[in-house]
Amino acid sequence: MTYYADYLGLDKILNAQELESDKANDHAHEEMLFIITHQAFELWFKQVLFELNTVIDLMDKPNVPESAVDLCCTRVQRVNKIMNLLCDQFSIMETMTPLQFMNFRAYLNPASGFQSLQWRILERKLGLQEDRRVLKHYTDALTPEHRQLLDDASAGASLFDVVERWLARIPFLQMGDFGFLRSFTASVRTMLDNDRSEVRRLSEMEGTDPTDALAQIDRNEESFMAFLNEESYEQLRAEGKRRMSLNATLAVLFITAYQDRPLLQAPFRLLEAIVELDRLVSLWRYRHTMMVSRMIGMRVGTGGSSGHDYLMQTAMRQRVFDDITSLSSYIIPDKQKPVLPREIDDLVKFTITT
Ligand code: HEM
Repeated sequence: MTYYADYLGLDKILNAQELESDKANDHAHEEMLFIITHQAFELWFKQVLFELNTVIDLMDKPNVPESAVDLCCTRVQRVNKIMNLLCDQFSIMETMTPLQFMNFRAYLNPASGFQSLQWRILERKLGLQEDRRVLKHYTDALTPEHRQLLDDASAGASLFDVVERWLARIPFLQMGDFGFLRSFTASVRTMLDNDRSEVRRLSEMEGTDPTDALAQIDRNEESFMAFLNEESYEQLRAEGKRRMSLNATLAVLFITAYQDRPLLQAPFRLLEAIVELDRLVSLWRYRHTMMVSRMIGMRVGTGGSSGHDYLMQTAMRQRVFDDITSLSSYIIPDKQKPVLPREIDDLVKFTITT
């Protein structure tokens, strides 16, 4: 017969809190909170990985049916709820004062969240590029067994890989005389020209200098124009300014522009959920950094990093899906976006041309 405590393995979980301060005969009350908070985080990381691994499996196919896109979306949204919770969870740790932490911090040395195997697996499964990492030697902090587990668990495709491949397969970008990129470029130009007029109008009204704002629009236009051919786009990729293939990028623009069409609604929701996940992982990093600076100020971490500075840089640099987020610079208002030819519009509307 199933028994509550056995089913949940409570014997193991509830007896897994060993206070180092007690072992040193120097009991620190807050160490219990410190341990349980970390354990709760790690349990949720396990759930996050469990969900994301199935999303990757579902999408790692030459064909991803709409029902699978829907399921992936629900699972990523679930992960996002967990990540939101984890961001809030830091506030429980913050009920401990820096002094209370100092009373047992020395006993933790050299252990650190820097050695969190599940966090490293999560980063890799999301598709964090190794050359984007602020500290390249992060695996040195792990035991050889954990290094092996990390390599095994993160072998195979990442979320970034499967999403990129799925996007790159989108039809509709070129059909008959219609070239989505050509039409979209004309609309982007018109939109940016409107932005310029608006900047000039406002600066005249307010008596301010429009140079910086206009230069920013020029930069946006310049980087968009690089999408116009394979060669210039590849140049952006070589410079590390873009990571996704040109087709995948165009698919994001297409899905975003025509998100209201029934066939594109599920893909759009999935993209939204993935961008939100990327944002929440960064938010987690930022939230953790804020807590760390309150607890230890500018001291170095027990894992040997510079502490606050290092963590802050990871929050800013280690995004995975900023290729998608950055495309918001080219979102065109509905009334200015290219009109789809009938045969494509019918397809994305699920209707048949007669
Ligand atoms: C008083 C509370 C905490 C302090 C002072 C703290 C401090 C730090 C510091 C300084 C680092 C940088 C690496 C190092 O040099 O040690 C770090 C990394 C890390 N911590 Fe915490 N931490 C705390 C709580 C937590 C909690 C509750 C978690 C949840 C699992 C966590 C997870 C991590 C992870 C995953 C990293 C690696 C981040 C990366 O390298 O990108 N930490 N922590």
